[in-house]
Amino acid sequence: MHTIFEPMKPIPFSPPRIDEKTIEAVTEVLRSGWITTGPKTRELEKKIQQYIGGGPVLCLNAWTNAVELMLRWMEVGPGDEVIIPAYTYAATANIIIHIGAKPVMIDCEPNGFLMDLNKAEAAINENTKVIMPVDFSGLPVDYAAVMEMAKRHAGIYKPRGENQSKLNRIMVISDAAHSFGALYDNTPVGREVDVAAFSFHAVKNFTTAEGGALVFNLPAPFDNEAIWKDINRKALHGQTKDALSKTQAGQWQYDIVEAGYKCNMTDLQAALGWVEMDRYAQDHLPRRKSIVARYNQAFQSCSWAILPKMQDDIVESSYHLYALRIQGFNEDDRNALITHLAEMGISTNVHFQPLPRLSFYKNMGFQESDFPRAFEQFSNEISLPIYFDLTDEQVDCITSAIKDYMQSR
Ligand SMILES: Cc1ncc(COP(=O)(O)O)c(C=O)c1O
Repeated sequence: MHTIFEPMKPIPFSPPRIDEKTIEAVTEVLRSGWITTGPKTRELEKKIQQYIGGGPVLCLNAWTNAVELMLRWMEVGPGDEVIIPAYTYAATANIIIHIGAKPVMIDCEPNGFLMDLNKAEAAINENTKVIMPVDFSGLPVDYAAVMEMAKRHAGIYKPRGENQSKLNRIMVISDAAHSFGALYDNTPVGREVDVAAFSFHAVKNFTTAEGGALVFNLPAPFDNEAIWKDINRKALHGQTKDALSKTQAGQWQYDIVEAGYKCNMTDLQAALGWVEMDRYAQDHLPRRKSIVARYNQAFQSCSWAILPKMQDDIVESSYHLYALRIQGFNEDDRNALITHLAEMGISTNVHFQPLPRLSFYKNMGFQESDFPRAFEQFSNEISLPIYFDLTDEQVDCITSAIKDYMQSR
C-alpha cells in the first residue's frame, strides 16, 4: 500500500498561471484607456516571432477563427478535401465544415496519438488542398515528412484561384494548438510548415484567456508580410484601418474591401501573453517538464502503465498533457478510475473522444470501426493534472491515488 493521504484540497485539472504580475499587466492596460487591439497585441506578435524565429506572426481571438481565415484565404471550399487526424478536438474539423470543404479523417499511428502519415499519404487525391496534422499533447509531428509528402504529390494538385495556383501544391498547416514551446530540431516549433497555428485558450500552456496565433512561412513568391496584412484585414470586417489607426489625427475615414470577419485579439488578452512570454521558456516549460519526470518516475515500474511519449531525437514536447494509458482498461474501467479520483478531489480529463464518436460526425457517415487505433487508445487514456502551480506533493498524491486504486482492483 502507498501512503494514505489526509483529505486534501481539490486538485484542478489545468488552471491558468495567474499571479500578481498578470493582474498588474492587465490593470496597466485597463488604466491606459486602450483595451482593444493596439500596441500590446502588435508587440506580443513581435515577441513570439523573435522566440520562434519564423515568419510574421498574427495574433487573433482563437485558433479556430485564425485557421478558418487561413483556409478561406487559400480559397478552400466545396469540392476540396482537408486531411486531419480523427484524434483531435472538434475545432480542427468544424472549420472545414464551415467553409464547405470535406474533412478526411485519418487514424492514429500505431501506439501513438499522432496521425498515421502512411494512411494520410494514401488519402491524398487531386481534391486534397490542405494537410493539417495535430501536435497532440504538445508532441510535434514529423513536419519534414509531412512537407515532403505535400510536395511529392504536386503533380496531381488541381489549383483553383490565385493563391492555390501560386503555391501549386498541397498546403501544410500545423494544428499546433498544444505545442507552443515544443522543440523541433532544438528550436521552438512554428517555422517548419507553411503556416503554424497555436491556441492560447485558457487551458493551454501559454494563455491569453482566449486567443491564437498564425505564423506565416509560405515559400516565395509569396510575401508573408502581405499575407499578414490580408488576414489581419479579414479579421476586422475587411476594413482598411484598425481602430487605433482611425484615432490618429484626420484618419477617421476607412474603406471596406471585402465582407470580412471579426476575430481580432484585444490588448487585454495580449497583456496576459506578455507576462507569459517573459517567463515561458525560463521557468514555465521547465516546471512542466519536471512534473512529467515525476509522473514517469512514479509509474515507470507499473506493468499496467503506458507512459506518454514526450521526446525523441528530433522533437521534444511542450508537456501540455500527461496522457497516461492503462494497459487492459476499457472505457468503463477508465471512467470508473476518473470517478474514483474525482471523489478524492482530483480532476482528470480525457483527450480526446475521437471525432467519429460525436453525433455530428457520426451523422455525416464517419464510423468508429474505421479508426481502430484511435478508439483503442482513447478507451484507456486518462489525462492527469499538469500546470505550473501543481506541487510535487500534489503529483505524489495523484500517483499514489492511482497506484492504490490499481492495487485494490
Ligand atoms: C487540437 C486542438 N485544435 C484546435 C483547438 C481550438 O483552439 P481555440 O480554442 O483557440 O480555438 C483546440 C482547443 O482545445 C485543440 O485542442
